[in-house]
Amino acid sequence: MDTVESILKINNIEVKYHEVILVLKGVSIEVPRAGIVALLGANGAGKSTTLKAISGLLGTEDGEVTDGAIEYEGRLIHHERAANIARWGIVQVIEGRRVFEHLTVEENLKVGAHLRKTGSVKEGLELVYHYFPRLRQKRNETAGLVSGGEQQMTVVGRALMTEPKLVLLDEPSMGLAPMLIHEIFNIITKLNKEEHISILLVEQNAKLALNVAPYAYVMETGRIVMDDNSEKLSQNEDIKDFYLGLTDKGGKKSFRDVKHYKRRKRWLS
Ligand SMILES: Nc1ncnc2c1ncn2[C@@H]1O[C@H](COP(=O)(O)OP(=O)(O)O)[C@@H](O)[C@H]1O
Ligand SMILES: [Mg+2]
Repeated sequence: MDTVESILKINNIEVKYHEVILVLKGVSIEVPRAGIVALLGANGAGKSTTLKAISGLLGTEDGEVTDGAIEYEGRLIHHERAANIARWGIVQVIEGRRVFEHLTVEENLKVGAHLRKTGSVKEGLELVYHYFPRLRQKRNETAGLVSGGEQQMTVVGRALMTEPKLVLLDEPSMGLAPMLIHEIFNIITKLNKEEHISILLVEQNAKLALNVAPYAYVMETGRIVMDDNSEKLSQNEDIKDFYLGLTDKGGKKSFRDVKHYKRRKRWLS
């Protein structure tokens, strides 16, 4: 990725919660301008923590970047306040699609509008409805009562209302039916291609992520254990075993166990 200009460079960061719990142990990730990069990993690996370190939301959980650096658009942001980072164009869509349940879909979208830099609220809504036609239909419905997929669209739409340059998406497929996942990921791809929005996509669904993102990182217990072109990663035997479920191995084992197991097997045979 050296030849492509990066919008975001995470350089060997360490993150601690409550000054003592070391969760990220030297993580480096690059997102090319107008690119999509995936961050894969099992539950508890540190994916959400990585996104919060970028968006500045760590602060609200008594977490801190204690080593390394995060560079965004040539600016060091790892000690910046979340409000500034948002103003400079980074938006995080947190996991669990949290809408304001008692507001309508459109009111939820308008919440994102105060961070707009240039366009009017009306223009923003039109853009969101252009990419998410379902939300136009549901605009006056109570957000807490629309389907899970529509809630996910609402939170992505709300992020879009801020006119972001970089969107951090935390497990957008979680708990959604395959048809809806497909629809949402098509839209995300379109947003990237047509609006040139850079995307860092966190997913446990590796198959999906490797389809959408040309480049991916694999994280385990606070470290990047592998990164490569998605095509190469999807052919990697360990990835196939553990993340793609293409063999009967993997299962509850950790990614490293699979690797060690395979090494041992090769060594024995
Ligand atoms: N606010 C917090 N305080 C203490 N530990 C936390 C906090 N948030 C997350 N952790 C711990 O950090 C590790 C990584 O969590 P997380 O980043 O949420 O992983 P992932 O998103 O990959 O599932 C987990 O062991 C989790 O328990
Ligand atoms: Mg998470």
